[in-house]
Amino acid sequence: MNLSLQHHDSAAFATSLLAVFAVDIATGDDAKPSPALLTTSDTLAKAAAPWLATGEFKASLGETLLLHSPAGAEAQRLLLIGLGRAGSLTIHEVRKAAGVAIRFARSRGLQEVAIAFPEDKALDDEHMDSLPGGLTARAIAEGALIADFDIDFYRADRKDLSIHTATILHLEADKKLEAQMQQGLSEGSIIGQSQNFARSLINEPGNILTPTELARRTTAMCAEAGLVCEVYSTDKILELKMGAFAAVTQGSSEPPALIVLRYEPPSPPPPDAPVLGLVGKGITFDTGGISIKAADNMDKMKYDMAGAAAMIGAMRAIAQLKPAVRVLAVVCSCENMPDGRAFKPGDVLTAMSGKTIEIINTDAEGRLVLADGLFYAKTLGATRLINAATLTGAISTALGHHNAGLFSNDDSATQHFLDALPTSGEKFWRLPCSSDYRDQIKSQIADLMNTAGTRYGGASVAAAFLKEFVGDTPWIHLDIAGTAWIDDSKPWQSKGPSGIALRSIIEWVRSYAK
Ligand code: BES
Ligand code: ZN
Ligand code: ZN
Repeated sequence: MNLSLQHHDSAAFATSLLAVFAVDIATGDDAKPSPALLTTSDTLAKAAAPWLATGEFKASLGETLLLHSPAGAEAQRLLLIGLGRAGSLTIHEVRKAAGVAIRFARSRGLQEVAIAFPEDKALDDEHMDSLPGGLTARAIAEGALIADFDIDFYRADRKDLSIHTATILHLEADKKLEAQMQQGLSEGSIIGQSQNFARSLINEPGNILTPTELARRTTAMCAEAGLVCEVYSTDKILELKMGAFAAVTQGSSEPPALIVLRYEPPSPPPPDAPVLGLVGKGITFDTGGISIKAADNMDKMKYDMAGAAAMIGAMRAIAQLKPAVRVLAVVCSCENMPDGRAFKPGDVLTAMSGKTIEIINTDAEGRLVLADGLFYAKTLGATRLINAATLTGAISTALGHHNAGLFSNDDSATQHFLDALPTSGEKFWRLPCSSDYRDQIKSQIADLMNTAGTRYGGASVAAAFLKEFVGDTPWIHLDIAGTAWIDDSKPWQSKGPSGIALRSIIEWVRSYAK
């Protein structure tokens, strides 16, 4: 998608479809909706007025009203898109609404659209807070790119519905603000493209995206983005004494991949500056192993590498955004398969840290590969750790599909992450991983068991297990099992891989460069 920002009167811009945002300025629970356009164009206001007067369009979030041949405007179509209530408007609604414009155009086979930059000065101050120009431009770019993605890659009847050109039209006279908008647009393009790169990896089936193939695609991305990338397999895993990772992969005939990515900022930071370590769970297919999963929905377990994809995609964006902080990423990728050589319940493994683990359930494999991945990232010099993983079904029991889980041993690192959320627009909820949960995985014969004997609190137990391998290093664990795959399409986003965590991780990384 060719995305650009142009100083142009939107009514005078020739386009197949012009999207204009609208808010509902009514206040109070029972108030009648009162839609208002976020444009200062009198021509567009006049063209839309008779249709707004009918009351059929309420400007609720994602709602659309299409007008053909709007009077006085150059656009062939004028699409009004609701942002919801003015009083609670954030850039996240703008991100979604930009996505609605793109998906609306796609569904009609259009390849070119224009989006009128939301002008808060179209309304009186009392209705809404002003939208920051740079972040709004960024959100529009992200929303547009995220919307321009579908999952039907392997269908013979697939139609290429992608949007070739999206032009964001604005009337900002202040050059400084215009430069901020331009900067926002370019950051949003990098982030949106990186999120789609991660989503395309997650969407791949397990027979195609094997650990080796994940490593190959990551290597190719790194060559393009200018990142250092090292790929290792079984020999290195054994040499490093990663006994937990080795156990998970041993039942698979696909070789594992241990992938290390490094980003160095343009000017070297001082020696005591933080080094951020991003660690991803990259199980390219999780059958459960000998503790095999039920057949229903097992196909979904191709997305058990969504944590790895988030980290790889985040590194792609980091390479281009160039924050002044060192970042490394470790991805532990393998399959979890039942086989004559597979690891078994009752086995005792020795992790890279030296801790011994009694296996109770081979389906709790993610925490095993991460235990070694986190410890390894520390040995590579990481002083702050963050991992993302589709780790537990229990996180969906706790939070549903609306929030991803966040667990941490450090309030400061957590605060950096939570502060990033209004910008990323993603939702994470902190849950505990205190010693009570650790006590549930005490083993009689080893240092730890890999699962507790109960399903209750399963996400916190898994987090408490990981915590055993990070020591005193500040660490955040993101459990994205309930949010990495969306079952239903939204007007702004296809069903399938969401790319969750990537945007927040990028923002978290940037917060250490300030
Ligand atoms: N990959 C799964 C978790 C998962 C579940 C991801 C649903 C996405 C959607 C993980 O490896 C797993 O199987 N966890 C077990 C742990 C249990 C055995 C303690 C689970 O959640 O059931
Ligand atoms: Zn599993
Ligand atoms: Zn898994």
